[in-house]
Amino acid sequence: MPHPLFTPVNLPNGQILPNRIAKAAMEESMATTGQLPGPMLTNLYRTWARGGAGLLITGNVMVHDAALTGPAGVVLDKDTPLEPYRRWAGAAHTGGGKVWMQINHPGRQIQRNMPGVTWGPSATRVNTGRTSALFDVPEEMTEAQITATIDRFVDTARQAERAGFDGVEIHAAHGYLLSQFLSPLSNTRTDSWGGSLHNRARLLLEITRRTRDAVSPGFAVAVKLNSADFQRGGFDKDDARQVIAWLAPLGVDLVELSGGSYESPAMTGNPAGRQDARTAAREAYFLELAEELVTDSPVPLMVTGGVTRRPVAEKVIDSGVAVVGIGTALAVDPGLPNAWRSGQDAAVTVPRVRIRDKALASAASMARVRYQLRRLGRGRPASVRTNALWAFGVEQIRDTLARRRYAAWLDDRDTRTDTHRVYERPKYTASHQGFKLPH
Ligand SMILES: Cc1cc2nc3c(=O)[nH]c(=O)nc-3n(C[C@H](O)[C@H](O)[C@H](O)COP(=O)(O)O)c2cc1C
Repeated sequence: MPHPLFTPVNLPNGQILPNRIAKAAMEESMATTGQLPGPMLTNLYRTWARGGAGLLITGNVMVHDAALTGPAGVVLDKDTPLEPYRRWAGAAHTGGGKVWMQINHPGRQIQRNMPGVTWGPSATRVNTGRTSALFDVPEEMTEAQITATIDRFVDTARQAERAGFDGVEIHAAHGYLLSQFLSPLSNTRTDSWGGSLHNRARLLLEITRRTRDAVSPGFAVAVKLNSADFQRGGFDKDDARQVIAWLAPLGVDLVELSGGSYESPAMTGNPAGRQDARTAAREAYFLELAEELVTDSPVPLMVTGGVTRRPVAEKVIDSGVAVVGIGTALAVDPGLPNAWRSGQDAAVTVPRVRIRDKALASAASMARVRYQLRRLGRGRPASVRTNALWAFGVEQIRDTLARRRYAAWLDDRDTRTDTHRVYERPKYTASHQGFKLPH
């Protein structure tokens, strides 16, 4: 009998995933001019589709053109041409699995050398220790900005459906805007968007409810949530349990559990604090937290983080989790699901990045993964031997060029669609601001 890993899973709104392996969201940073998906991204997803995962979740797609996690991020809003997105979804469907678009707003987690706006629930800057100066103190969001942000998430979800995606995953983890609202450390508001957990969850719940109403019944709506922030006084497991209970009646298909933020990058195996070595050494490192949530979860759960071997993927599913998410290992070997299905014990070993500064270690290890994504997008095999610091350096150069192109595009778009942003002007624009390298 095949292990349940390779059996279909029925989601609450009727969508069926052909198996229980999901390619987790990994920001590809491959946008072409106009912040659109191009051939490299399309090739990459064709490769993943053929690898046999039942679900491909895209890297985060930006809902707000003036707030990008990085300068080569793709943007999808109500004015974006859909053809490049249709090609992307088409390529991702060539293996018979489903494809969901992850949608995100970075909030305060935007480097200060980026054009655009830096918003947050409160005017509290990201604290990454020595590298905190890379970030601006965010502008505390007004009611109008919050309302516009809800509309943007809904617009992007609707556009994703029109472009042929099978669902969206709302990113409420990893310290981005929705996760900033959830955490009492970054959200110190005293209005109806802050204070109690229910108030802090209001933005996520409102976006989820409005999105579900705006898309077809069979279109999946999922949420990525931190099972914990890994920060004292932050969002924790009990908060996650309560938020999942609130999400269930809104018609959510799946909740993906992850953890961490830029301040404590647990999602890359590098949380701040003393538990580092333990967490990094563990496989499926959010499973313990998830196991406590799975018994009474009213929504199917997905757990992502540290899975590189089939027995570990099977253990995740045996624990009652509906879907196992895999990121890094599928960047190194996109064919893992098919290899596992055919009985091979294929496993991926990714060398640890040995840099003391946790934020830098996390950034360098992610740059190394993105380096592999570009190789795959060019039709070349990935290589685990790439030096992380070198990949990080290459990425800095690429980002400088991408930032220039993005600033020019944003400037031009801003001029053309001025009605779009009556209450928000980008902080920097190509025409009046020079560019700073990270310092
Ligand atoms: C290069 C890279 C980019 C990532 N981008 C995203 C993203 O856009 N959205 C997200 O939710 N998680 C993102 N993640 C986190 C992954 O989805 C995943 O949670 C994390 O890598 C742990 O899983 P893994 O050990 O299988 O890689 C990214 C991870 C990497 C390595």
